[in-house]
Parts: sequence; structure tokens; C-alpha cells
Amino acid sequence: AAQDTTVTVHADRPGPTYDRRIFTQFAEHLGNGIYGGLWVGEKSKIANVRGYRKDVIGALKALGVPVIRWPGGCFADEYHWREGVGPRAKRPVKINTHWGGVTEPNTVGTHEFFDLAEQIGAEAYVAGNVGNGTPQEMAEWVEYMTSPAGTLAEERAKNGRKAPWKVPYFGVGNELWGCGGNMRAEYAADVTRRYATFIKAPAGTRILKIAAGANVDDYKWTETLIREASGQIDALSLHYYTIPGGGWPPRASATDFDEAGWADTLAQAWRIDDLITRHTAVMDKYDPQKRIWLAVDEWGTWFAQDPGTTPGFLRQQNTLRDALVAAIHLNVFAKHADRVKLSAIAQMVNVLQAMVLTDGAKMVLTPTYHVFMMYKPYMDGTVLPIDVKAGWYNKDQFVMPAVSASAVRGKDGVVRVALANMDPNRPNTVSATLAGVTATAATGQVLTADAINARNDFDAGDRVVPRAFTGAQVANGTLTVTLPAKSVVMLELR
Ligand code: AHR
Repeated sequence: AAQDTTVTVHADRPGPTYDRRIFTQFAEHLGNGIYGGLWVGEKSKIANVRGYRKDVIGALKALGVPVIRWPGGCFADEYHWREGVGPRAKRPVKINTHWGGVTEPNTVGTHEFFDLAEQIGAEAYVAGNVGNGTPQEMAEWVEYMTSPAGTLAEERAKNGRKAPWKVPYFGVGNELWGCGGNMRAEYAADVTRRYATFIKAPAGTRILKIAAGANVDDYKWTETLIREASGQIDALSLHYYTIPGGGWPPRASATDFDEAGWADTLAQAWRIDDLITRHTAVMDKYDPQKRIWLAVDEWGTWFAQDPGTTPGFLRQQNTLRDALVAAIHLNVFAKHADRVKLSAIAQMVNVLQAMVLTDGAKMVLTPTYHVFMMYKPYMDGTVLPIDVKAGWYNKDQFVMPAVSASAVRGKDGVVRVALANMDPNRPNTVSATLAGVTATAATGQVLTADAINARNDFDAGDRVVPRAFTGAQVANGTLTVTLPAKSVVMLELR
């Protein structure tokens, strides 16, 4: 068959680490992202450990979630940590002004969050309140969480936790250009310098400070923050959502779409490559040593909410199309792994492009979950530079490379190649030259389905699950793959 795509994998020129923190998850007090999805309370009929549902925790633990970002998002810049510690019955009930105007019982607070992180085996990425909190409130929260001694540490002990927690990552607010305070970049840079000054780690520990970075293509924001605040921060975030159907506000259906809706979404997802390239170029000007990470800590699809769901809860189904969006991002992050050390898909449970959806006691694993599971062996592996010469896939005005790819040598020494075929109608024949790989066989998994909008539903069973893949061979240093239409394939070369 004619070769549609030619690839060279340079195992002879190993690149940077594919940081495990690229698989960070985001859990905001939003809809059923926490309440119902993770937390059901100790008295629930749903099996739980100290209030957290066993099924969801089990699924996330299996995924090896390395870091959880909490409590927001927009929620973070209105969150007052004191309202979420102490006896639960005495905690104030607030209004979640961002997300549906529903009541926020503060049942899940600092102690419950760290229990969640510990049950999953993840590190904590706590986002502080810059929006309507003070530097003192932020400093006291950090001290409450991390200090081995002092009045706040004693209060923590009284509330059930003697040993300090580790807070390896702390967010200096969120989206300061928007819900975090509608600041101008210059003002946000000063505010970031000021608040970050008071985020202090106890002796012998370290807290990486992640500044609230740009929205999409706001390069001026990145430039201002890195120019003015680089001395106080360790990372700058970037938020980019895949929004088809004409952009903000999200209006396209998560499940009811045709090939144009497929192509529109994937073309939007591909933008992440150009966005990172350009934000990185700005950062390189001020930080050529690449000390400061670009943390893409909100990404993923954002569709119209599923019909009949609570307004403001951002509940959306997840289809094979979301799986391709995830693969595109995870491949693009490999290309930029020298700068992108952390990324967080939005969000972990029941919100936007979720890993897991729940409905009462029921749970399904989404196609996106399965992509994350397929890529899990990338964690802390070594990126292998890859050249990809693919043709174009297009539908109407939506044009993109037909194949997305990446390659990583895992910590187990195994070279893995990920390939995703954008074309929903035609397979793609990939021929890959393997420079510096001594392999004789390729095995792996494929994620695909009959329909572009195939999904896993509570009653209809799992339609989109990884299956063994037999369409790859290695001979004389060349890998040949027949990539099925609309598929994600992860190969292991041995
Ligand atoms: O993920 C949902 C929201 O999107 C977050 O709260 C906010 O940071 C972003 O605008």
C-alpha cells in the first residue's frame, strides 16, 4: 500500500523527560466534580472510604494520577480556607457564585482534600485566593498546611492532622485576567510578586509557585508576567480549551455532531502546538535557561452542557472525539517537554473533558480515561524526537495533519510510539524509521469505535475501550503501521 505518513523516531538523540506531572488532574468545586463524583459522605450507601467513593478512587488510582489541582479554577479566587476546616457541622454554607449558584457546604476542605490526594496517591497542587483574599490569608493557609510547629500547626493537629502535609505546587491565584479579578497584565504581575513573596516553605521543603498565566493567545500577558515577576515564580500557566462551533460561549453538542463537528474540534485541539510554540518563544526571551515551566493547567474540550443537566455544572459526555483531542495534546506536550513540565486536563470527574462520569451509584470510564491509561507508561520517560511527514485531513474549512505522533522511551527502557489518525473514514499507512532502536516486534493497543460519537454510557455498556492492536510490524529498522480510521494507537517496540 502507498505510504501516507513517514516518520523518523530518533532514539539516538534522546530529548527531555516526559514529566509525569503532565498527567495532573484538576478537581474544582464545580457541579459534581467533587460532591457526588468523589465525595459522597461517610453515611452514603455508595461504598466509600472516609466519604470518598471507592469506585472512582480505584479508577483514578489505577491511572496513577500524579498531582491534583484544587480547589479551582475560578472557585479558588473566592475560597476562604478557614471555612473548610474544623467540625464539618459548623462550617459555613456558602453560595458557589461561579458554578450554578448552588450551595457550597464546605464539607470538603483542606483535610478532606489531602485525604483524597493520599487515597489516590497524588501530590497536592493547591490554588490560592488572590482574587478576594489577602496575602496574609494565603500565607496562613500555607503555614497551616505545611508547618511542623506553631499555633497553626497545633490547630491542624487539633483538627486531626499532626504531621504537616507537603504542598509541592501552589497556584498564585487563577485566571487573574478574568474571574480571578479582571486584572490588567501589569497589575497582575505586581500582585503576583506581592502574593508570591509570602508563600514560604518550611526549612528543608520546597513549594513551586505557579503564576496565573495567559488565556489562549494572550502573548502580552505571558511577556508581562515573565518580564516583571520571573524572580518570584517557578511556573507560568496557560489555559486553552478546545471549543468548536465558533468559540466562546461553548455551544456545540458533546455527542450530536457530524464530520464537520469532528474536524472542527480536532482542528481546535491542534492549535495547542502553535500556542505553546509562541508562548515558549516569549518565555525564551527572558528565561533562555528554561527554569520557569509552562504549566498548561487547564485544557480539554468544552461543549454545551448535556441537555437536562444543572446549569453551570459543565457536565458533558465524552466520545471517541475527546479521545483524539487528548491524544493530540499528549503528543504535542512531548514536543514541548523542555518547557511543559505540568499540564492538567479539565476536569477529573463529571466536569468538561472528564476521566470518569458518575450518575448516582453508577460510574463509567470515558474514552479520555482510556487514552490516559494508554499513555501512562510515558510518565517520566525520555522523549524521543520524532519527525512526522503526514498528509492533510480536512473537512470543509477545517484542515490539519492527518496523523499526530510522539515517541517516548519509558522508564522501563521500552520505546513507545503513539499515533492518532484524524481521518474518520480512511486508514493511514505509517512507515517509521527507527534510528537507534533495536526492536523486532511491535505490539500495542488501539482505541477506536464504529462511530465518531461513540461513547461509554451508564446503561449502554462500554463501546470505546482499548483493544489489542495487531496492525504493526517491525522489519529492518522500519516500523510499518496500518492505522485504522479515527483511532489512537500506542505501540511498544521490543
Ligand atoms: O474549568 C472550568 C473553568 O474554566 C475554571 O474554573 C476556570 O479557571 C476556567 O475559566
